[in-house]
Amino acid sequence: MDQDETPIVSALADYHRKDRYGFTPPGHRQGRGAAETAVDVLGKDTYRSDVLASAGLDDRSSSNGYLQKAQELMADAVGAQHAFFSTCGSSLSVKAAILAVTRGTGEILVGRDAHKSVTAGLILSGLQPRWISPSWDDELHLAHPPSPEAVESMWQRHPDAAAAMIVSPTPYGTCADIQTIAEICHQRGKPLIIDEAWGAHLPFHDDLPTWAMDAGADICVVSVHKMGMGFEQGSVYHLQGGLVDPVRLRQCADLLSTTSSSVIMYAGIDAWRHQMAQHGRRLLDDALNLATDLRSRIDTLSGIHVLEDELIGAEASHDLDRLHVLMDVQELGISGYQAADWLRTNCTIDVGLNDHRRIEATLSTSDDESSAQRLMKSLQALCSAAKDLPRPSEVRLPRSSDLEMKTVKLPRDAFFGPVEVVPVEEAAGRIAAEQITPYPPGVPAILPGERINAAVLEYLVSGKEAGMVLPDPADPSLKTIRVVPEPPEAG
Ligand SMILES: Cc1ncc(COP(=O)(O)O)c(C=O)c1O
Repeated sequence: MDQDETPIVSALADYHRKDRYGFTPPGHRQGRGAAETAVDVLGKDTYRSDVLASAGLDDRSSSNGYLQKAQELMADAVGAQHAFFSTCGSSLSVKAAILAVTRGTGEILVGRDAHKSVTAGLILSGLQPRWISPSWDDELHLAHPPSPEAVESMWQRHPDAAAAMIVSPTPYGTCADIQTIAEICHQRGKPLIIDEAWGAHLPFHDDLPTWAMDAGADICVVSVHKMGMGFEQGSVYHLQGGLVDPVRLRQCADLLSTTSSSVIMYAGIDAWRHQMAQHGRRLLDDALNLATDLRSRIDTLSGIHVLEDELIGAEASHDLDRLHVLMDVQELGISGYQAADWLRTNCTIDVGLNDHRRIEATLSTSDDESSAQRLMKSLQALCSAAKDLPRPSEVRLPRSSDLEMKTVKLPRDAFFGPVEVVPVEEAAGRIAAEQITPYPPGVPAILPGERINAAVLEYLVSGKEAGMVLPDPADPSLKTIRVVPEPPEAG
């Protein structure tokens, strides 16, 4: 295919050139009627390009096939059989994938380090999750992706599960041995879904970890806004092989999707694919060189350590995307939460993932020496300021075995059934009726249907005091928790 084409971007340019006008949504009529306050901040062009997809950008039957063509170009660029665009984030794409492989019933093997959008898919679908243990690192207190052995052992225990689903790369940039895991699944004729939300750029450079389709996965979901250059919410899900019906996959996404997809988001995905096909190798070369250089410069700062060797290896992850610069700030005597807040307040920079002892800067092809210097200067200032910051309150970290609580009820039944609200002090031993997720990285510590233990509660309560953010429980202060009512004991 001609990778120089940009069907959606070109159609949008044509829309502007022809001065089309729609007596249709969006009602702002390309910004003519939009609030001035918004136009002042967003700019006229944002509204100008926010047009209807069908009976707007394309005609009412989409006879020009702009979206279809853009998706085919994406599949061609990355070497997948099918590519589908979504404007509802990977959060929608992973749910569509789950529904498509399981037909909405039965069991699925899922890494327990799954993102909350995956677990939300389990709640909605009513599937029985069979949790694959990630490789917990009790020293670093983080989860590496599940090993092939862990996947094999789960297949032996649950041979009737419909598919396996793994997150790779994780938000730390660590990757699973997808090739071996795909072979294990395929020996049983079962599909493998990879949540590669953090891996949109992987197909475009050989020095990055292997991208899921090259490693043999059946479905892989990427967020174009995370490591690519798309707008927030832009996602692509890719499919190959004969184990998953493409029509079913598309229709499952259709069930969950908006009927008003954003043309701006589509254009962002289309343009980014074009940019990667034309210049991806060079742009990623530059980004990787910058990452190597920045990693060693940060490592010279006293009190900050950049993680690398300890993340990869036999007991850890299979590979690492070095654009994720994960920094341990423990030696500064502060928490990752404090470091992130201090950098935002004092240096006007934000970092991504942060936890009790780490912060992470993700680099992209947009970064250059000047943004790297800005980060370096801010980190130097943090190192000087750290001694005057209050000591962090202790986060009482659970052992990895405590993090794997038993799922004793279907997540759907626990979530949608009757609920009792109990003080957090009384929640140990009860079955959770809501998910509770430290964000970032967005991996639920508690899921509906799990029997809650005291160690995880202590972790969340002490984490909350130290600055952890819990956006999803009904009571974000975590004074109370929603649990499944239990009948009073007989006698
Ligand atoms: C591993 C993983 N999967 C899925 C998602 C959801 O992606 P999106 O924000 O595109 O909906 C995220 C978001 O952070 C994620 O980290």
